[in-house]
Amino acid sequence: MKALIPAAGLGTRFLPVTKSVPKEMLPVVDRPQIQYIVEEGLASGADEVVIINSREKKIIEDYFTENAHLVSHLRAKGKDAYADEVQHVGELPVSYVYQDEPLGLGHAVHCAAEKTGDEPFFVLLGDVIVPGNDMLVRMKEVSDAHNGASVIAVLPVPEDQVSRFGIIAGEAVSDDVWKVESLVEKPAVEDAPSNLAVFGRYLLSPRVMDLLAEVKPGAGGEIQLTDAMDAVLKEEEMYALIIDGDEGFDLGTVDSWLETNNILYQRRFGK
Ligand code: UTP
Repeated sequence: MKALIPAAGLGTRFLPVTKSVPKEMLPVVDRPQIQYIVEEGLASGADEVVIINSREKKIIEDYFTENAHLVSHLRAKGKDAYADEVQHVGELPVSYVYQDEPLGLGHAVHCAAEKTGDEPFFVLLGDVIVPGNDMLVRMKEVSDAHNGASVIAVLPVPEDQVSRFGIIAGEAVSDDVWKVESLVEKPAVEDAPSNLAVFGRYLLSPRVMDLLAEVKPGAGGEIQLTDAMDAVLKEEEMYALIIDGDEGFDLGTVDSWLETNNILYQRRFGK
């Protein structure tokens, strides 16, 4: 099973910095956000972590490449803790496929179709990080308990904020699992079928990959992952795992990125 990390977007919300620094390379405390996502992918039990990259963002690949010269320089200076960190990053097993144009998240995911073949796969969005690294493992358990069905992570949000998110409709099958009936993109408060918002972690059946090939451009002229998930709901079951607010941290806007930095800095250094 592969873990896919789409990273080929333009990062418009972080301009102007993203003119030359990819959004995925912005720091959370002292490491780029994509390092957290790669490590979470590796902790999921996936046999390969695949970054869907843009050819303009090679700096992401440089980061995950070994730098023996820097490591030996640091060791010679007695800076072994830094040397260990640099060595660790260079040894993380990551592979790449390319999206030549940012035609949407669904299109980016489909660029990895040859990697996933006829297996289910994880998708990890860079908009959120999960420092506990255990969410995908729990999603896989839910999938295994329901004949390999697709599973998405959902987060309860305040009722008056539902119109900012993709929201699920469905019914509870246990304390923390719902069976999904449909997905509603940014509903008006009065139309929202629940307050459970889609959070950027997905375990998707191979049928979603097939359907992505057929999805036509939707909102914003982009090929949306949600449209393929809507289509698969007509053929297969899908479940949602309800997560806690303190398990995942948002990085999607400048405000939330700064707030996440503050929280994780305090957690790490107790300041
Ligand atoms: P986002 O919409 O959050 O990222 O997509 P973005 O497109 O880079 O940001 P804005 O909207 O311009 O501010 C979620 C993830 O999907 C990737 C992004 O890199 C991000 O990690 N993505 C998005 C792609 O890989 N390709 C795309 O065509 C769109």
